[in-house]
Amino acid sequence: MPTQTWTAPPGLEGVVVTETALSDVDGATGRLTYRGRPIEEVVQTFRFETLVPWLVTGTMRDLGGPAWRELPDRPWPARPMAALAAVLLHLDDAWPDDVESACRLVLGLPVMFGRAVSGGRRCDDPDAPVAARYLALVTGRTPTPTHVRALDAYWVMAAEHSLNASTFAVRVAASTGARLPLALAAGVGVLSGPRHGGAPEGVLTLLEEIGRQPDDPEAVLRAKLDAGERLMGFGHRVYRAVDPRARALRAVFEQLAGEDPWARLAARTEEAALRLLAERHPERPLATNVEFYAAAVLKALGIPRALCPPTFALGRMAGWTAHWWEERRRGRLIRPLARYRPV
Ligand code: ACO
Repeated sequence: MPTQTWTAPPGLEGVVVTETALSDVDGATGRLTYRGRPIEEVVQTFRFETLVPWLVTGTMRDLGGPAWRELPDRPWPARPMAALAAVLLHLDDAWPDDVESACRLVLGLPVMFGRAVSGGRRCDDPDAPVAARYLALVTGRTPTPTHVRALDAYWVMAAEHSLNASTFAVRVAASTGARLPLALAAGVGVLSGPRHGGAPEGVLTLLEEIGRQPDDPEAVLRAKLDAGERLMGFGHRVYRAVDPRARALRAVFEQLAGEDPWARLAARTEEAALRLLAERHPERPLATNVEFYAAAVLKALGIPRALCPPTFALGRMAGWTAHWWEERRRGRLIRPLARYRPV
């Protein structure tokens, strides 16, 4: 027991609890770097297959391809985040604990998970990029190269974001010595909440609602704010400027959706939401976060709404795995305190 204690603020806001070489989020200026390289450069340079080993190990490595296992045809849980956690629990038994096997797991998971949720559908081109195989499994169609590139760019941008809530959970698990699949399952649980990775579903619901009265997006948004609801896809604990991933994903979305009415609806909704949020919270800049255009991109790719959170998680597995490895080498159990206060 430490001799001196101090009480952290609710939500641990502003508290630094560890060091990392993986990414840096500069919330004031809206800049994000992976291992010192700006996200805009990373997304031009890497495909998900090359990003994973670089992010996790800091070196460019040829892993010899992803690794996957045949999974039983058992009925997997119907809720996709629960299914993703179940796949990880199933794999835990015998997954080797070295760093290259860890990277190969991250690259194999989209295919294993895609097959589990599509009832054992097969994508028979083993040389196709992992984004192509995942899209084929979950949409049932052969994706176009533009679609493959869009999902790949999304995964590269979703891969890592410093000590967000789910990454913190994975680091806590890693500090106990937990093996990778179960540490990743902890991350899946934390990411499932609507204030974190569950937001895209909320964004799609919002856009659909506005789509029913497209002439006046502001009225729908105003009613939500008056009812005390938060607008999904806006606001962030760290960013006070535009999230650079939101900007980059908007460009990806515009390429995919073109002049589609859906694209115009998203743009008008964003404009109206930013105007209203600035009006209601002049003290606190509330900008578009990554989830707003992530939801729009995933819809344009034909990914079913319920698969948005696990699709995000499959990209974030890269960062979780990198943090698991970093924390493993640190080797100090994370164990804060709680003040006992009887009610
Ligand atoms: N819509 C309306 N009001 C908002 C929003 C929003 N999206 N975000 C914050 N606010 C308001 C809060 O109600 C609060 O107002 P109050 O002081 O009058 O109560 C004020 O702004 C400050 O909000 P905080 O709660 O301090 O912001 P916090 O840093 O805790 O929240 C969060 C960050 C959870 C992301 C929040 O902005 C939110 O709920 N956004 C919507 C959900 C969302 O898009 N989540 C995805 C985040 S990105 C990611 O996790 C990958």
